[in-house]
Amino acid sequence: MKKLLVAAAAVAGSVVLAAGAAGCNNSDKIYVDTNAYFAPFEYYDKDMNIVGVDVDIMELVGKKLGKEVVFKNTDFDVITDNVQSGKKYDCGAAGMTITDERKEKVNFSNPYFTSVQYVIFQTGAMTADGNSTDGKETDYILWSSLAGKKIGVQRDTTGDIYAGDEISSETGALYGTEAAVTQYDNAQLAVDAIGAKQVEVVIVDKLPAEYIVANNSGYQCYALYYDAETATEEQYAICVTKGNNELLDAINEVLAELGTEGINELVSKHLGLGK
Ligand code: ARG
Repeated sequence: MKKLLVAAAAVAGSVVLAAGAAGCNNSDKIYVDTNAYFAPFEYYDKDMNIVGVDVDIMELVGKKLGKEVVFKNTDFDVITDNVQSGKKYDCGAAGMTITDERKEKVNFSNPYFTSVQYVIFQTGAMTADGNSTDGKETDYILWSSLAGKKIGVQRDTTGDIYAGDEISSETGALYGTEAAVTQYDNAQLAVDAIGAKQVEVVIVDKLPAEYIVANNSGYQCYALYYDAETATEEQYAICVTKGNNELLDAINEVLAELGTEGINELVSKHLGLGK
């Protein structure tokens, strides 16, 4: 009898869990996980509201579905797990790059922005290795020029993952050099660590890098290239709990309506806002 009760409880439990796994999307709110230290995509304004390109996108999604959008700040490295579980969050909007590993945990919307990795350093500490021949005419630094350097990153971001790969893989540009990675909670803290002489360079996505350089004096940044025609390129998308297709579809509709032009307008708006 006791066994039966336990079994019944387990069944009841799994029903509740199944409802949970469908997301919090039965409510009239959309819960969005982010890490708000990544301007212009998400950052705190002077009133301590989370604002940015990703917030504007999700507000449009909320409008479409008739739901209120609630953004919460967490560490970046827990976002995919939070969205995978679907218990507290329906999706993650965080300038997040699509990666195969993340895809195992969450569904991604269509890509809405192409970014490249940048390297930040103290003014004059490094010089460009060249000017790209990929048609983008960008001053770049080669991964191989980071040999032996102390590198700061935001934990679990693509900057972290790529730097780790270059160091640990036998064919990596930093393999067998003294290069080492230190992880920080966000890119600004990593740049503060350059000032404190704990690291020499910081690897982070282009627009956040340019934003940080514009707001902290004494720093410079260049694109990070594998060779003259190969930037470290990636695509951003919004991640959604698997199975929550209503939300995924609404996000894709909004992204299609905005188009590249709409996204670029949001980017300039938030870059223009400054701090
Ligand atoms: N695009 C990079 C990645 O997906 C960095 C994203 C960091 N985002 C943030 N909101 N802090 O790993």
